[in-house]
Amino acid sequence: MKRVDDFRLTLGSRKLVPIVTGGMGVDISTAELALVSARLGGIGHISDAMVPTVSDRRFKTRFMSEKQKKYKYNVFNTDKSVVQFDLEQVAEATKLHVGKTMEAKRGDGLIFVNCMEKLTMGSPRDTLRVRLAAAMDAGIDGITLSAGLHLGSLALVADHPRFRDVKFGIIVSSLRALLLFLRKTARLERMPDYIIVEGPLAGGHLGFGMDWAQYDLKTIVGEIHRHMKQEGLDIPVIPAGGIFTGSDAVEYLEAGAAAVQVATRFTGTVECGLPDKVKQEYFKAAEQDIEVNLISPTGYPMRMLKRSPAIGSGIRPNCEAYGYLLDAHGKCAYIEAFNRALELHPDEKTLSVPDKTCLCTAMRNFDCWTCGHNVYRLKDTTHRLPDGSYQLLAAEHVFKDYLYSTDHRIALPPVQVASIG
Ligand SMILES: Cc1cc2nc3c(=O)[nH]c(=O)nc-3n(C[C@H](O)[C@H](O)[C@H](O)COP(=O)(O)O)c2cc1C
Repeated sequence: MKRVDDFRLTLGSRKLVPIVTGGMGVDISTAELALVSARLGGIGHISDAMVPTVSDRRFKTRFMSEKQKKYKYNVFNTDKSVVQFDLEQVAEATKLHVGKTMEAKRGDGLIFVNCMEKLTMGSPRDTLRVRLAAAMDAGIDGITLSAGLHLGSLALVADHPRFRDVKFGIIVSSLRALLLFLRKTARLERMPDYIIVEGPLAGGHLGFGMDWAQYDLKTIVGEIHRHMKQEGLDIPVIPAGGIFTGSDAVEYLEAGAAAVQVATRFTGTVECGLPDKVKQEYFKAAEQDIEVNLISPTGYPMRMLKRSPAIGSGIRPNCEAYGYLLDAHGKCAYIEAFNRALELHPDEKTLSVPDKTCLCTAMRNFDCWTCGHNVYRLKDTTHRLPDGSYQLLAAEHVFKDYLYSTDHRIALPPVQVASIG
């Protein structure tokens, strides 16, 4: 019976363990988590979502407070079009986050950064160009383009000296989206180095409509494999979404996948950036505690725990400090939803905004508990402690369980012994 460890991912001249830990913004897939995957020979993602804010927390920079101070006068204005990111600061924050992670890298694996197009940051092209170029400057091994079609993204850095050296991949949820992307990259004579195919059971934003349940990862991966064969394309295909055991992964690898991308099982690890209290919410979750809703201002459906404090929250839009989802005209669907609620209840002290959420603030504060569909199985991967809480896992333990398990078995961690005295 095969195990994941019987396979290897070939990426250029490298042979890697075929496990990729997915990017989880905002700093849920921390450098510490990604570094474990790289140390064990796989690929670990960090995320560049809200990177100035992440840099403030990790490196004690003051990007967010400086921006807030600069635009303080605009806080009560419903028009946010004046709010702009300082591109030099975005570059500095990215270089810090990526650079420090690369410095700490050990082992034969790679570190990639997840870069979402929907993070339009008031000036979509300029901010994306700076984020990509700064990550490349700071030595990143690879960049995964996500949350968007990215039809113009590679062209933004085509003249960067590392354009043909950094690995580029894209996350797609359909053959159609892949074809659009491939048509664009062909013009640059730069095919992607890998393709992540994310199905409807994934965490974060979904590349489907609210009819997501009618789709299935295996079918989409099969379509993409057939197309690539027909066209004589040899690009590693990496399925993601709902791959919960090593045996799930082996099924894909035997069917021709080059590797698998996984995330939800790592939300219960010590290295994951979620606060411990939130990790317990993930462990506790039952299947009926999960929903896919449309409260993200990006317009994409998102899966999350129904208890997420982000749901229904009516806080004042925090764009002067954050503003990561502002489009080129300074608009965000949450600002509109908030203004509608304010018009209806002008005297209300605490507003409720049911249709959208202030995603920047919610993600920054770990109040949007996004998760994969299988989060309700997380409790089966660890021990329940005498106080009713769940024992956190080491990322190495979860990684190795994917690598060596057979028969859909999940290895429980060594029991944590309480210190005596
Ligand atoms: C908490 C959480 C946050 C996520 N955030 C992002 C993100 O910022 N960008 C992204 O492209 N994918 C994101 N994802 C998707 C994962 O990278 C991954 O592809 C997917 O969840 C894999 O499915 P699994 O969780 O069932 O293993 C997130 C997933 C989770 C669980």
